[in-house]
Amino acid sequence: MKNIGKISAATAALDFVSDNMIVGLGSGSTARIFIEKLANRVKTEKLNITCVATSISSQELGIENGLNVVDLDSVDKIDVTIDGADEVDKNLNGIKGGGAALFYEKIVAKASEKNIWIVDPSKQSEKLGAFKLPIEVLPLGSAHVFRYLDSELNLDPTYRKNKDGSLLTTDSGNYIIDVDISNVSNIDGLSTQLIEHVGIIEHGLFLNICDTLIIGNNPVEIKTRKVY
Ligand code: 5RP
Repeated sequence: MKNIGKISAATAALDFVSDNMIVGLGSGSTARIFIEKLANRVKTEKLNITCVATSISSQELGIENGLNVVDLDSVDKIDVTIDGADEVDKNLNGIKGGGAALFYEKIVAKASEKNIWIVDPSKQSEKLGAFKLPIEVLPLGSAHVFRYLDSELNLDPTYRKNKDGSLLTTDSGNYIIDVDISNVSNIDGLSTQLIEHVGIIEHGLFLNICDTLIIGNNPVEIKTRKVY
C-alpha cells in the first residue's frame, strides 16, 4: 500500500527546488518518490537541474527517469539535498542508514548548503534510539569493532545481513553493524566516540545536519532547525 505521508512529504519538497540548482538525491523509499516527482517536474517545466546521488540505486533511478546525475567531485557544492530519515527528534537530529546508504548520504549532506528531510509522521521521536543505529565498518577487523561495540559500549550489536544470510555490503564494500542506543543519554558523546574508533567508517547519527524537516501530515508540516 502507498504511504500517503511519504508521498505528501516528497511532493512538498519540490517547492524547495528551483531552476539551475544542483540537487542532492537521497536514498530510501521516500527519496525515491521525490526523485520520480523531480524528474517529472524537470521534464514538464524544462528545468536545468543537475543532480548528485547518495547511492547507486538513487543514481540509477535518477538516470532512468532522465535526470542529469553527475559525480559529487564534478560540482563545487550542492544547493539542496532532499533525503529521508529513519528517526528524527524535535531538534531535527536523526538516525539514517536504514537503507545502508549512510556513508554516501553524509558525504553528500556535508557538501550541501541546505539539507531537507522528508518523512512520514511515524519517523518522529522524543529521544533518538527507537531505531537501531547503523554503523558502517571496514570488513577488515570488523570482528574487533563488533567486540568493542558489544563488550565495551554495551550496544547489543548485530551484523546486518542479506535475505540469504550473507553479510550485507554497502555501496562502498563495507559492512553494517546495527546497535541499540536506546539507553544512551549522551548522543553527541557517542557520535564522537564512534567516529574516533579505528575501523568505523561512519555512523548513522546525523546531528546538526538537517535544516528543514518536511513531515507528511495532513496538512504537511515544515519545521526549521533552530541554530543556537
Ligand atoms: C537510507 C536512509 C533512508 O533515508 C532512510 O532509511 C529512510 O528510508 P525510507 O524513506 O524508505 O523510510 O537513510 O540509508
